Amino acid sequence: MTSLAADRLVARRGGRDVVDGVSLEVHSGQVVGLVGPSGSGKSTTLLLLAGLEPPDAGVVRLDGEDLAGLGVAGRQALRRDRVALVFQGYGLLSLLTARENVELPFRVARRDPAAAAAAATRWLGLLGLGDRADQRTDQLSGGERQRVALARALAVEPAVLLVDEPTAELDEENRDRAVGLLRDAADRGAAVVVATHDPEVVELCDRVVRLVDGRPLELPPGDVDGPVA
Ligand SMILES: Nc1ncnc2c1ncn2[C@@H]1O[C@H](COP(=O)(O)OP(=O)(O)O)[C@@H](O)[C@H]1O
Ligand SMILES: [Mg+2]
Repeated sequence: MTSLAADRLVARRGGRDVVDGVSLEVHSGQVVGLVGPSGSGKSTTLLLLAGLEPPDAGVVRLDGEDLAGLGVAGRQALRRDRVALVFQGYGLLSLLTARENVELPFRVARRDPAAAAAAATRWLGLLGLGDRADQRTDQLSGGERQRVALARALAVEPAVLLVDEPTAELDEENRDRAVGLLRDAADRGAAVVVATHDPEVVELCDRVVRLVDGRPLELPPGDVDGPVA
């Protein structure tokens, strides 16, 4: 069982609190949505949850342990072994192939190359990219790159999966695929947080935290257009 809990997070950027008091909790088997207009603090919140940026106030705890107490090396180890983040800009290495990008986290963790190759084949296939595996990612379309980034995060079967607008560039068929795979990851025990505008992704969430100017408002799924505090 994994639990990720954020307590009253604050992120100050450019002299203002772009994340201002965000709390959320997600356990194995759950998908929590972060919704809200562009600029409301979704991506910044995901960076804090991943331990990539330190909060200016508040705490992120993974299985009860404060990420701030882990130190730089501890947080790196966490991202290598337990937490995967799909960035809004995907964060792929453009000169590497789709397959090499998916294999990268396995290499960093010094895992068996044969297992990495098998995982890359499997996950690229599940995302409909079987025939794109050996193409450099700078030669792929935006939607294809988005799916490579998802494959890379899903392939390591992380305990915590953080995903930033995973369907922004996907057509309907691939959106269905991506949503199905996120649900499956949760069903296999991942704790998933997904920033999204997409009603189909919101639909899959067990809970939704709506952000307005960095401030949270918790709503039942499907009520993303509910009252704005
Ligand atoms: N490093 C930064 N420096 C200055 N402003 C930032 C920085 N990061 C984010 N912001 C600002 O914080 C706000 C929230 O950004 P972001 O978290 O990317 O929102 P969202 O993902 O919901 O669109 C935006 O107004 C953005 O311009
Ligand atoms: Mg964003």
